[in-house]
Amino acid sequence: MTFLEAPVAVADTQTIERAAGIIRLGGLVAFPTETVYGLGADATNDAAVARIFAAKGRPRFNPLIVHIASLADARKLASFPPGAVALARAFWPGALTLVLPRLPATPVSRLASAGLDTVALRVPDHAIAQALLAAAGAPIAAPSANRSGELSPTRAKHVADSLGAAVDLVLDGGATSFGIESTIVGFDAKGPVLLRPGAIPRQAIEQRVGPLRDPGQGPVSAPGQLQSHYAPRTPLRLEADEVFPGEALLAFGPNSPSHHGLTRNLSLSGDLVEAAANLFAMLHEIDAAGCAGIAVAPVPRHGLGEAINDRLRRAAADKAR
Ligand code: TXA
Ligand code: MG
Repeated sequence: MTFLEAPVAVADTQTIERAAGIIRLGGLVAFPTETVYGLGADATNDAAVARIFAAKGRPRFNPLIVHIASLADARKLASFPPGAVALARAFWPGALTLVLPRLPATPVSRLASAGLDTVALRVPDHAIAQALLAAAGAPIAAPSANRSGELSPTRAKHVADSLGAAVDLVLDGGATSFGIESTIVGFDAKGPVLLRPGAIPRQAIEQRVGPLRDPGQGPVSAPGQLQSHYAPRTPLRLEADEVFPGEALLAFGPNSPSHHGLTRNLSLSGDLVEAAANLFAMLHEIDAAGCAGIAVAPVPRHGLGEAINDRLRRAAADKAR
């Protein structure tokens, strides 16, 4: 396989405008933040978010951090449990990510949340990241801009070496100042939980909201709390080549089993990036219909098919427990 070079450009005003255009059209732009470089896409565009996972080569869909310009913008996407506004006021812009309940009408892609009812939000403290958010006029989903399993990039060259031409443009803003990722805080019924230690020390956060609990500590593993992946309520049956009475069908490709009841096709043309973009939105939709079960047609295992099959397997196993 030939490894094509990533287009790297110094982040001047004109280049940031070009980058924003790429984001608006559904492309991928790597950009510097104060922590590490992010691999950004329009967070409201399922297909663009699917391209992030394809570029990273992640075997799983982890939920992504969605970057916004301000607390006011964040409030349009998620609700803020007690303590969350205080943390946002104290640390935004900055290296703190808050995992918050999605608002029902949030435009953020379900794939960016990996199907969960929460969304991770962060206001970056970096002039180039802020200029890109302003020019794009959309929230930007961005994991660290490295291929899965590699180190988080702190220079444009690291991004280019890791991702190559899988990224449409790398905005070069020099070395990032922290060099480690943001601290991630979530909330459950009992208060704030430290989901990932990072650039902002635990003590600084505890000064504002009191002790942070660890995930899984104490009685917080009750169903629905801190779940690390999405599972539909309706039982899933995988690798289905026929559909039983009462079942809905989640199909893939042009040759799916015939069915007259509720049917969604992840990708009629058999495109795995399109299928990834549709996966969580379609599962939520079918789940809400209250069928007896969901028959899932086979999905190939190459490319994004690995992550799609991983999620389907977990969803099916959860119901079997
Ligand atoms: O500093 C950073 O946080 C960088 C810059 C680019 O902002 N981003 C970053 O993203 O480190 P990433 O994708 O490499 O790590 C995001 C982490 C993942 O471990 C993911 O599981 C967690 O955030 N996360 C995101 N959304 C979540 C959610 N809804 N619930 C629980 N964890 C979530
Ligand atoms: Mg990462």
